Amino acid sequence: MRNSVRFAHFITAFHLLATRNSLLATPMSEYSAEIIDLHKHYELGGETVRALNGVSFKIKRGEFVAIMGASGSGKSTLLNLLGCLDRPTSGVIKLDGEDVSQLSDDRLSEIRASKIGFIFQSYNLIPQLTVLENIEVPLYYQGIINAESQQRCRDLATRVGLSQRLEHRSFQLSGGQQQRVGIARSLINNPAFLLADEPTGNLDTATTEEIMNLLKELNAEGKTIIIVTHEPEVGNQTKRIIRLKDGEIIEDTGA
Ligand SMILES: Nc1ncnc2c1ncn2[C@@H]1O[C@H](COP(=O)(O)OP(=O)(O)OP(=O)(O)O)[C@@H](O)[C@H]1O
Ligand SMILES: [Mg+2]
Repeated sequence: MRNSVRFAHFITAFHLLATRNSLLATPMSEYSAEIIDLHKHYELGGETVRALNGVSFKIKRGEFVAIMGASGSGKSTLLNLLGCLDRPTSGVIKLDGEDVSQLSDDRLSEIRASKIGFIFQSYNLIPQLTVLENIEVPLYYQGIINAESQQRCRDLATRVGLSQRLEHRSFQLSGGQQQRVGIARSLINNPAFLLADEPTGNLDTATTEEIMNLLKELNAEGKTIIIVTHEPEVGNQTKRIIRLKDGEIIEDTGA
């Protein structure tokens, strides 16, 4: 009898806890990103540059998308907005169902740190730091370096094929190896979302292939990936192409 009363208390407490948690938790959206009528205008010398002029699309969890278009068509502007590095002039950007269009700088940097990994054309490594130290850099800013995080850096270096290069400084690496470090660094906070601006722009054809294979593996493991590229052979390896012209979408193979 006493045991059954205790059990009933346990069940009630568990139920209350579960209910409370389900009320507190943000519901998981079906979409990694939703962009609604996005505009980004710059005022320059008395003229308005419409870098983005009414762009709308949705990206489901686990998609692999290329953003393509001529120079000046608005690709980097769009990627920077998706990456919470900037705010739109008007329109809505939702990430994981949360409207990030007009959040404070502090909240935007929290979202960047927890949800988004960035990969750059020119790698943006610190030349004098080793492979492991470069992967660790985002953690310095968050003040969370410990034995566990260092092991995680080692695991990521291995994941991108650099287990034999852990102590190399980045100037001692090839371009492809440097981009692997850049990819490992982008993964350090286990983001759901990877954004890359011309990640293969400085690489030869064979190395481009290797980096694309790595990105495809990460996508197969569940990462949502958006890359900006000029190269049709890169765009064609993704699952969807969004093509921009003069700040507008002229083609979306996933729409
Ligand atoms: N800070 C800024 N101030 C004024 N105009 C800007 C600014 N940033 C971008 N632009 C303009 O917005 C337009 C889109 O620029 P964006 O960098 O997004 O192009 P892009 O498609 O990435 O080009 P590229 O392929 O050359 O990198 C361009 O006309 C550019 O000159
Ligand atoms: Mg650009």
